[in-house]
Amino acid sequence: MLPSREARTDAVPARVPNLLGPSFDSVAPVAVPTSAPASAVRIDRVSKQFGTGPVVLDDVSLDIAPGEFVCLLGASGCGKSTLLNLIAGLDRPSSGQIETPGEGSAVMFQESALMPWLTARRNVELALRLRGVPRRERHEKALVLLDSVNLADAADKRPHELSGGMRQRVALARALAQDRPVLLMDEPFAALDAITRDLAHEELERVWRTTGRTIVFVTHNVREAARLGQRVVLMGSRPGRIVQEWRITKTTGRRIESPEVAALSVEITDQLRKEIRRNAA
Ligand SMILES: Nc1ncnc2c1ncn2[C@@H]1O[C@H](COP(=O)(O)OP(=O)(O)O)[C@@H](O)[C@H]1O
Ligand SMILES: [Mg+2]
Repeated sequence: MLPSREARTDAVPARVPNLLGPSFDSVAPVAVPTSAPASAVRIDRVSKQFGTGPVVLDDVSLDIAPGEFVCLLGASGCGKSTLLNLIAGLDRPSSGQIETPGEGSAVMFQESALMPWLTARRNVELALRLRGVPRRERHEKALVLLDSVNLADAADKRPHELSGGMRQRVALARALAQDRPVLLMDEPFAALDAITRDLAHEELERVWRTTGRTIVFVTHNVREAARLGQRVVLMGSRPGRIVQEWRITKTTGRRIESPEVAALSVEITDQLRKEIRRNAA
């Protein structure tokens, strides 16, 4: 059974996951045990209010499949970070529940938050050490992880010697070092220039495809969401809730300037504008 941060209240009917697995005799579907994790992240009717302030998240439900790349998109202040922090277990919902894998999630923020006195390699080694990887394996593993984000050459540089894009790649290597099945990213590339961000997108996509991580990527950038997501979930503001979602079936070969990314961005932006107008009214 997946750990849940809040006991399920009887008043809230449990949603039934996909219980029907493939049949061995191809006659009748076989029920999969209910404890099988059908989702990597399961957000069930979650609301959040800070103290007596306004309701920040209102009745948010979202199931994220293992290995899925989901972009949470919405205007500033709509509650994206609040929702990501709840998934990360950094805060608790006011009501509803969130289920995540027992191993937890790795989180990456807009600021790389690297230790400034440690080299790139040592920053990654630190995450390995916290995970209990023996000292003699850490050096080699850190280099492999840095190589996976094309940074092996910068292993001995300190953060101030690296560009913003490189620092975020070290932060990504450090997040991967934690070896958690879920990677939560909160506007990790928002401070990068456009060209560096394009490269970061390619790198992240490659990491996603090679590691099979479940990724929840928060952004307020429509193009970025349309470029990266397998699913784009649009949030509305005040209170934050899910307004609409898009599933992208062909995710290979996308670039920020691809016609299909542009077309989807136009469609999403239209919805986002409606949301913003509705809020202003
Ligand atoms: N710890 C907190 N205490 C009080 N209000 C908060 C706290 N965290 C976020 N909020 C409020 O919740 C709303 C959503 O914030 P946030 O989740 O950061 O939005 P986003 O990430 O979409 O820009 C904002 O109005 C913000 O002021
Ligand atoms: Mg935020």
